[in-house]
Amino acid sequence: MTAPGGTGPIGPYPARVVTDEDKEAYDKLRRRLLWTLPSGLYVIGSRAGERRNGMTLNWATQVSFDPKLIAISVEKRAMTHELVDSGKAFSLNTIAREDRALVRKFTKPVDVDAGTMTLNGVSYHDGVTGVPILDQAVAFVECEVRQTIDCGGHTLFVGEVVDCDFQGTEDLPVLRMEDTRMSYGG
Ligand SMILES: Cc1cc2nc3c(=O)[nH]c(=O)nc-3n(C[C@H](O)[C@H](O)[C@H](O)COP(=O)(O)O)c2cc1C
Repeated sequence: MTAPGGTGPIGPYPARVVTDEDKEAYDKLRRRLLWTLPSGLYVIGSRAGERRNGMTLNWATQVSFDPKLIAISVEKRAMTHELVDSGKAFSLNTIAREDRALVRKFTKPVDVDAGTMTLNGVSYHDGVTGVPILDQAVAFVECEVRQTIDCGGHTLFVGEVVDCDFQGTEDLPVLRMEDTRMSYGG
């Protein structure tokens, strides 16, 4: 998957990039380069009232030791954006490498069954903030939103860690972007 809406040229350009051809070549190079930046791969749980969602996301990282802050960057038109903005919390779920097929289930708004407590057939439970946590996640980090930063097409939600735990074997290798053929960014 590539970044949505990236059709026209997007500057700024360094001084050596002058002509339209230069700009086109630079756009492609910059995209290829940004794709090479290493990242993790997660499922984000979100909730507003009784609406819940799970979403595949790789733009996530810790951004402070004290307090313990995690930032995630979410597309403004994603359902997750609406739910995190309104619910002011999210869960970040790490996924076992062997469960890589799971991320495909969370690339559009999911079917939620509150009766069986499943998101697209994947079992969840609610964390301390009420957001869904995948039972199958290797570990989860649950955050309350402390800052919301407008980044253009995305919003950076900065959340403080309010709960976390391993749910399986602590040293089970977790999924990273490089374990897949997918890309997001660029
Ligand atoms: C590998 C991969 C990584 C992704 N990373 C992000 C991300 O970091 N931020 C984001 O907003 N969307 C990301 N997406 C896109 C969302 O998963 C997708 O747009 C989803 O439909 C939006 O979720 P929602 O509408 O169900 O909330 C990624 C998709 C894939 C396949």
